Amino acid sequence: MKEEEAQSLVLADLAHQLHPQYHVRDHEDPVVFVRGEGALLWDIHGREYIDGLACLWNVAVGHGRRELAEVAAQQMKELAFSNSYVGYANVPSIRLAERLISLVYPNMQAVFFCNSGSEAVEGAFKISRFYWYLQGRPEKTKIIARREAYHGGTLGATAATGLPAFHQGFGPLAEGFVRVETCYPYRCAHCKGADDCNLACADAVEQTILREGPETVAAIIAEPVHGAGGVIVPTPGYWPRLREICDRHDVLLIADEVITGFGRTGRWFALSHWNVQPDVMTVAKAITSAYVPLAGFIVSDRIHQAILSAPEDAKFMHGYTNAGHPTACAVALRNIQIIEEEGLVEHAAAMGERLRRGLNGLRTLPHVGEVRGLGLLGAVELVADRDTRTPFDPAQKVGSRVLRDLRRRGLITRVKGDSILLAPPLIVSPEQIDRIVELVGGSIQGVVGV
Ligand SMILES: Cc1ncc(COP(=O)(O)O)c(C=O)c1O
Repeated sequence: MKEEEAQSLVLADLAHQLHPQYHVRDHEDPVVFVRGEGALLWDIHGREYIDGLACLWNVAVGHGRRELAEVAAQQMKELAFSNSYVGYANVPSIRLAERLISLVYPNMQAVFFCNSGSEAVEGAFKISRFYWYLQGRPEKTKIIARREAYHGGTLGATAATGLPAFHQGFGPLAEGFVRVETCYPYRCAHCKGADDCNLACADAVEQTILREGPETVAAIIAEPVHGAGGVIVPTPGYWPRLREICDRHDVLLIADEVITGFGRTGRWFALSHWNVQPDVMTVAKAITSAYVPLAGFIVSDRIHQAILSAPEDAKFMHGYTNAGHPTACAVALRNIQIIEEEGLVEHAAAMGERLRRGLNGLRTLPHVGEVRGLGLLGAVELVADRDTRTPFDPAQKVGSRVLRDLRRRGLITRVKGDSILLAPPLIVSPEQIDRIVELVGGSIQGVVGV
């Protein structure tokens, strides 16, 4: 593309588009992408980048997959859209629901399709409340959500999100959400990490339920591994303890697997690392590798049975025009087939190991506080003082300086505070993993020194 045309595009973007999580100062020099192939992206100036976060943790099978474009085109030609509201269905959404149920946890039984992770999360809240309503316990409505969590941009999902920056200027937040601490081993107030974990962080959830009154609590929502909140991996006993607590107090467990689903953690779905099954789970992002939008929430047999046996005047009056969109479902089916045929779940596990090994090599740098991750989700948390784990002064903007520097070096990713987050497409090659590590190391040295 000619430089003049590139410049005019950037100006038009500034003039007419408001972007997610926007401040004009952060958008002075946007990267405008024009092409992708595998784990690589190119911008309007012809510059090449490694896609270090699979765009937004979602382009699992990589960019430029012709077979996904073809299946979408074929479905659009055959049946571009049809109504999925009660009384109607289409073939791809039926087949996809069946396929998903065969892939997720054994207790899961039925899928509700929607278009974004936020919608999936909203639906998970509504089905949880509705379940208790059907049980004759309509006062069980509160949703417990954790610090550091990101659950989406709609009002309920915003209230559940435990990152204060996402609340600024949007009050009053939706009622009925209760915040609890999370399991953040590196920064735990109770212990000093996985080897020493006494699960006080999980027990805090139980204390919260007891304080609020179990008869008022519908569900707890949690990401198996925090994504946008910093790729924070819980200690091994955390999820089993959460499950126990939920069972003890008749509280539903919602696993938000919007990031962790479809192989990202080296398993198809992340709670299988800890042999835990949720009552409700959300899926989105990698379900179509983001070639078209699609998401959903999935409910256990117990909840499904309650819906099936609901009295006629208790309809689940929830839905979206594009629910079960045939093109999106057809793409998801093909995408899942690719993940399976190419062994991408196993590949993600192997590449994740390689990534962590490489990042662990950066521990020789004095400001690398922690390297963490699970499967192909990784993070490096930078600190001012490693011995005391003291963070940098936020005024130094270390994280955003590293982010800009990485971009200049040819790696696109995201940061949370001073943690560098990494989640390349599942198809990433060993050489690309090594290059990511090299770029991250170079950037840390360049920004905070050796
Ligand atoms: C765990 C989690 N839940 C929900 C969402 C919201 O998804 P969406 O942006 O598709 O609405 C996200 C988005 O990143 C997420 O990471």
